[in-house]
Amino acid sequence: MNNMTNSTNELSLDESALDAVRSSLDQGAVTPAYGPHREAIVKLLNDALATELVCVLRYKRHHFMASGLTSPHIAAEFMVHATEESAHADRIAQRIVQLGGEPDFSPSTLLQRSHADYDESNDLKTMVKVNLIAERIAVEAYRQMISLLADKDPTTRRMLEDILAEEEEHADELKDWLDI
Ligand SMILES: [Fe+2]
Ligand SMILES: [Fe+2]
Repeated sequence: MNNMTNSTNELSLDESALDAVRSSLDQGAVTPAYGPHREAIVKLLNDALATELVCVLRYKRHHFMASGLTSPHIAAEFMVHATEESAHADRIAQRIVQLGGEPDFSPSTLLQRSHADYDESNDLKTMVKVNLIAERIAVEAYRQMISLLADKDPTTRRMLEDILAEEEEHADELKDWLDI
Protein backbone atom coordinates (compact mmCIF):
# COMPACT_ATOMS: atom_id res chain seq x y z
CA MET A 1 0.00 0.00 0.00
CA ASN A 2 1.49 3.37 -0.90
CA ASN A 3 0.85 6.81 0.52
CA MET A 4 -1.42 7.75 -2.43
CA THR A 5 -4.12 5.29 -1.36
CA ASN A 6 -6.35 7.84 0.32
CA SER A 7 -5.91 10.59 -2.23
CA THR A 8 -9.22 11.65 -3.79
CA ASN A 9 -7.41 11.94 -7.13
CA GLU A 10 -6.30 8.35 -7.13
CA LEU A 11 -7.38 6.12 -10.00
CA SER A 12 -7.24 2.55 -8.80
CA LEU A 13 -8.52 -0.72 -10.17
CA ASP A 14 -10.93 -2.96 -8.27
CA GLU A 15 -8.54 -5.75 -7.18
CA SER A 16 -11.33 -8.11 -6.11
CA ALA A 17 -12.90 -7.89 -9.58
CA LEU A 18 -9.50 -8.67 -11.11
CA ASP A 19 -9.20 -11.75 -8.87
CA ALA A 20 -12.74 -12.88 -9.71
CA VAL A 21 -11.92 -13.34 -13.41
CA ARG A 22 -9.73 -16.37 -12.51
CA SER A 23 -12.86 -18.50 -12.16
CA SER A 24 -15.68 -19.17 -14.71
CA LEU A 25 -13.15 -19.45 -17.55
CA ASP A 26 -15.83 -21.08 -19.74
CA GLN A 27 -17.43 -17.61 -20.03
CA GLY A 28 -14.57 -16.40 -22.21
CA ALA A 29 -14.64 -12.61 -22.52
CA VAL A 30 -17.57 -12.26 -20.13
CA THR A 31 -16.04 -11.42 -16.74
CA PRO A 32 -18.12 -11.46 -13.52
CA ALA A 33 -18.38 -7.66 -13.51
CA TYR A 34 -20.88 -7.99 -16.42
CA GLY A 35 -22.89 -9.95 -13.83
CA PRO A 36 -26.31 -8.43 -13.39
CA HIS A 37 -26.34 -6.68 -16.78
CA ARG A 38 -25.35 -9.46 -19.16
CA GLU A 39 -28.82 -10.90 -19.74
CA ALA A 40 -30.40 -7.46 -20.05
CA ILE A 41 -27.77 -6.46 -22.62
CA VAL A 42 -28.40 -9.64 -24.63
CA LYS A 43 -32.14 -8.87 -24.59
CA LEU A 44 -31.54 -5.29 -25.82
CA LEU A 45 -29.27 -6.66 -28.54
CA ASN A 46 -31.81 -9.28 -29.61
CA ASP A 47 -34.45 -6.57 -30.02
CA ALA A 48 -31.95 -4.58 -32.10
CA LEU A 49 -31.21 -7.73 -34.14
CA ALA A 50 -34.93 -8.17 -34.85
CA THR A 51 -35.14 -4.51 -35.90
CA GLU A 52 -32.22 -4.88 -38.32
CA LEU A 53 -33.68 -8.04 -39.85
CA VAL A 54 -37.07 -6.40 -40.40
CA CYS A 55 -35.24 -3.44 -41.99
CA VAL A 56 -33.40 -5.81 -44.33
CA LEU A 57 -36.71 -7.36 -45.43
CA ARG A 58 -38.44 -3.99 -45.87
CA TYR A 59 -35.57 -2.50 -47.91
CA LYS A 60 -35.38 -5.61 -50.11
CA ARG A 61 -39.11 -5.52 -50.79
CA HIS A 62 -38.79 -1.79 -51.62
CA HIS A 63 -35.75 -2.38 -53.82
CA PHE A 64 -37.50 -4.94 -56.00
CA MET A 65 -40.81 -3.06 -56.10
CA ALA A 66 -39.12 0.27 -56.89
CA SER A 67 -36.89 -1.09 -59.62
CA GLY A 68 -39.34 -0.28 -62.42
CA LEU A 69 -40.30 3.13 -61.04
CA THR A 70 -39.03 6.59 -61.89
CA SER A 71 -35.86 6.62 -59.86
CA PRO A 72 -33.52 3.65 -60.40
CA HIS A 73 -30.96 5.45 -58.23
CA ILE A 74 -33.21 5.30 -55.16
CA ALA A 75 -34.16 1.68 -55.90
CA ALA A 76 -30.45 0.82 -56.00
CA GLU A 77 -29.85 2.68 -52.74
CA PHE A 78 -32.59 0.65 -51.04
CA MET A 79 -30.49 -2.44 -51.75
CA VAL A 80 -27.35 -0.71 -50.44
CA HIS A 81 -29.23 0.02 -47.21
CA ALA A 82 -30.50 -3.59 -47.03
CA THR A 83 -26.91 -4.84 -47.27
CA GLU A 84 -25.76 -2.42 -44.56
CA GLU A 85 -28.63 -3.37 -42.22
CA SER A 86 -27.70 -7.02 -42.77
CA ALA A 87 -24.10 -6.25 -41.77
CA HIS A 88 -25.43 -4.54 -38.62
CA ALA A 89 -27.48 -7.66 -37.84
CA ASP A 90 -24.36 -9.84 -38.21
CA ARG A 91 -22.30 -7.65 -35.88
CA ILE A 92 -25.05 -7.68 -33.27
CA ALA A 93 -25.50 -11.48 -33.52
CA GLN A 94 -21.76 -11.97 -33.13
CA ARG A 95 -21.69 -9.79 -30.01
CA ILE A 96 -24.66 -11.67 -28.51
CA VAL A 97 -22.69 -14.91 -28.84
CA GLN A 98 -19.58 -13.29 -27.33
CA LEU A 99 -21.74 -12.32 -24.36
CA GLY A 100 -22.80 -15.93 -23.94
CA GLY A 101 -26.29 -15.44 -25.36
CA GLU A 102 -28.12 -16.80 -28.39
CA PRO A 103 -29.09 -14.59 -31.33
CA ASP A 104 -32.82 -14.89 -31.99
CA PHE A 105 -33.46 -15.17 -35.75
CA SER A 106 -36.91 -16.70 -35.29
CA PRO A 107 -39.12 -15.36 -38.12
CA SER A 108 -42.31 -16.05 -36.16
CA THR A 109 -41.60 -13.30 -33.59
CA LEU A 110 -39.49 -10.88 -35.65
CA LEU A 111 -42.15 -8.18 -36.03
CA GLN A 112 -43.22 -8.28 -32.39
CA ARG A 113 -39.61 -7.81 -31.27
CA SER A 114 -38.63 -5.21 -33.87
CA HIS A 115 -38.77 -1.51 -33.03
CA ALA A 116 -39.33 -0.63 -36.71
CA ASP A 117 -42.15 -1.76 -39.01
CA TYR A 118 -42.28 -3.82 -42.17
CA ASP A 119 -44.00 -2.10 -45.10
CA GLU A 120 -45.63 -3.07 -48.38
CA SER A 121 -46.09 0.33 -50.02
CA ASN A 122 -45.96 0.40 -53.79
CA ASP A 123 -45.16 4.03 -54.49
CA LEU A 124 -41.71 5.50 -54.17
CA LYS A 125 -42.71 8.55 -52.15
CA THR A 126 -44.35 6.44 -49.44
CA MET A 127 -41.41 4.01 -49.43
CA VAL A 128 -38.98 6.87 -48.80
CA LYS A 129 -41.16 8.26 -46.01
CA VAL A 130 -41.65 4.86 -44.33
CA ASN A 131 -37.92 4.13 -44.48
CA LEU A 132 -37.10 7.54 -43.04
CA ILE A 133 -39.44 6.85 -40.10
CA ALA A 134 -37.81 3.43 -39.58
CA GLU A 135 -34.33 4.97 -39.63
CA ARG A 136 -35.37 7.65 -37.14
CA ILE A 137 -36.74 4.89 -34.89
CA ALA A 138 -33.41 3.05 -35.22
CA VAL A 139 -31.48 6.25 -34.41
CA GLU A 140 -33.57 6.84 -31.28
CA ALA A 141 -33.41 3.18 -30.16
CA TYR A 142 -29.60 3.02 -30.56
CA ARG A 143 -29.17 6.38 -28.84
CA GLN A 144 -31.16 5.10 -25.85
CA MET A 145 -29.26 1.79 -25.79
CA ILE A 146 -25.92 3.61 -25.81
CA SER A 147 -27.04 5.76 -22.92
CA LEU A 148 -28.34 2.71 -20.98
CA LEU A 149 -25.07 0.84 -21.49
CA ALA A 150 -22.90 3.79 -20.41
CA ASP A 151 -19.83 2.08 -18.89
CA LYS A 152 -21.51 -1.30 -18.29
CA ASP A 153 -20.18 -2.77 -21.55
CA PRO A 154 -17.81 -0.50 -23.52
CA THR A 155 -17.34 -2.96 -26.41
CA THR A 156 -21.06 -3.26 -27.09
CA ARG A 157 -21.47 0.48 -26.66
CA ARG A 158 -18.74 1.19 -29.25
CA MET A 159 -20.33 -1.21 -31.73
CA LEU A 160 -23.71 0.49 -31.24
CA GLU A 161 -22.10 3.91 -31.72
CA ASP A 162 -20.71 2.74 -35.09
CA ILE A 163 -24.12 1.40 -36.13
CA LEU A 164 -25.85 4.58 -34.93
CA ALA A 165 -23.58 6.69 -37.16
CA GLU A 166 -24.63 4.63 -40.19
CA GLU A 167 -28.34 4.86 -39.30
CA GLU A 168 -27.93 8.63 -39.16
CA GLU A 169 -26.39 8.58 -42.65
CA HIS A 170 -29.31 6.49 -43.89
CA ALA A 171 -31.82 8.94 -42.40
CA ASP A 172 -29.94 11.87 -43.89
CA GLU A 173 -30.02 10.34 -47.39
CA LEU A 174 -33.71 9.52 -47.17
CA LYS A 175 -34.56 13.05 -46.04
CA ASP A 176 -32.96 14.35 -49.26
CA TRP A 177 -35.33 12.15 -51.30
CA LEU A 178 -38.53 13.27 -49.57
CA ASP A 179 -39.22 15.81 -52.31
CA ILE A 180 -38.93 13.49 -55.31
FE1 LIG B 1 -29.09 -0.91 -39.20
FE1 LIG C 1 -30.43 2.09 -41.42
